[in-house]
Amino acid sequence: MVWQFFVVIFVLSLTYSNSLLVREEDSSDLLVHLTSGSFVGQSSTTNGTERWLGIPFAQPPVGNLRFKAPVAITTPAKGIQNATQFGNACPQLPSATTFGTQGEDCLTLNVWRPIATSGSEKLPTLVWFYGGAYMHGGTADPTFEPTRIIERSTTTNKPIIFVSVNWRVNTFGFLASKHVPLEDLNVGLQDQRAALIFLQDNIARFRGDPEKASAHLYLVHPSLMNVHHSLTSVTQQSAGAGSVEAHILFPAKQPLFRAGIMDSSTGPFKTAPVPAIYDELNQPFSNLLELVGCAEGPGSVECLRDTPFDSEQPALAAHGRPARRLRHGAPVIADR
Ligand SMILES: *[C@@H]1O[C@H](CO)[C@@H](O)[C@H](O)[C@H]1NC(C)=O
Ligand SMILES: *[C@@H]1O[C@H](CO)[C@@H](O)[C@H](O)[C@H]1NC(C)=O
Repeated sequence: MVWQFFVVIFVLSLTYSNSLLVREEDSSDLLVHLTSGSFVGQSSTTNGTERWLGIPFAQPPVGNLRFKAPVAITTPAKGIQNATQFGNACPQLPSATTFGTQGEDCLTLNVWRPIATSGSEKLPTLVWFYGGAYMHGGTADPTFEPTRIIERSTTTNKPIIFVSVNWRVNTFGFLASKHVPLEDLNVGLQDQRAALIFLQDNIARFRGDPEKASAHLYLVHPSLMNVHHSLTSVTQQSAGAGSVEAHILFPAKQPLFRAGIMDSSTGPFKTAPVPAIYDELNQPFSNLLELVGCAEGPGSVECLRDTPFDSEQPALAAHGRPARRLRHGAPVIADR
């Protein structure tokens, strides 16, 4: 079973194996040309940081791409965009850790670096995946504001770049059923990997080290806050840390990070179910079909995909509470 999961990830890494060329850095320090477009950041002399918020790292998982593995952006968006606002949090129930706007178009990341990072710098990068039981979380959470970490990195003379990533949670990130194609299982974890691949291609634009990007990308879990422990107490598993473990246990073909920091984790797959269990009576997938009025069968996922977002939110609500410990919002192990 473990092997099967590895195959999913392996196929994914092939999808992303092309490294896109980007133009040379503009003379303006805050304008960056990335594989997904050109973005102007914002500097804060008070905070000692420069930041770029809401940068897309994969195509919006909307319409035909709902419940699908993330798709790389191959053509940069035209024009110059202001990267001054956080992107949407991925769809989720309201919770103590829901901040800012929510929407299906949510695959964005944010980059911070010390102010006045010179053009010759090649900084290591710390990547942050939020926790929240695979059900909640978003990068606009002020707890994840990294100004103090950046400040500490500069005062200790070990400056870093900090990146936080929005990845799909809940039904949208972990839809599970015998009808979900193998490659579209655990798309929330695949989003994280897509972000790491995007950073491989783009971190040099922020003065991250292109040669050592793979050696200096870290993964970290944010459960430094008590709220995370209480939110995740259902499974005693903190999703960001579990995710990091998943990437270590099932590595991509290309090296994407050097080290992982995991806090309050019990591991992602110890009790992970196979997808077909979700189809059983009174389990999340069959419940979801019933709630949104979709028939059971080969067309189930397509029917769910065609369900308007607004009317699907109440169905998600029904899955916020696990039925017999299962919920849409946890990794599964492929059994095919
Ligand atoms: C400065 O840091 C504070 C947190 O210390 C944060 O709320 C604020 O958004 C930051 N401003 C900028 C422009 O980075
Ligand atoms: C970006 O912000 C600047 C200054 O606030 C503004 O003049 C410009 O129109 C904005 N560009 C876009 C594409 O929103």
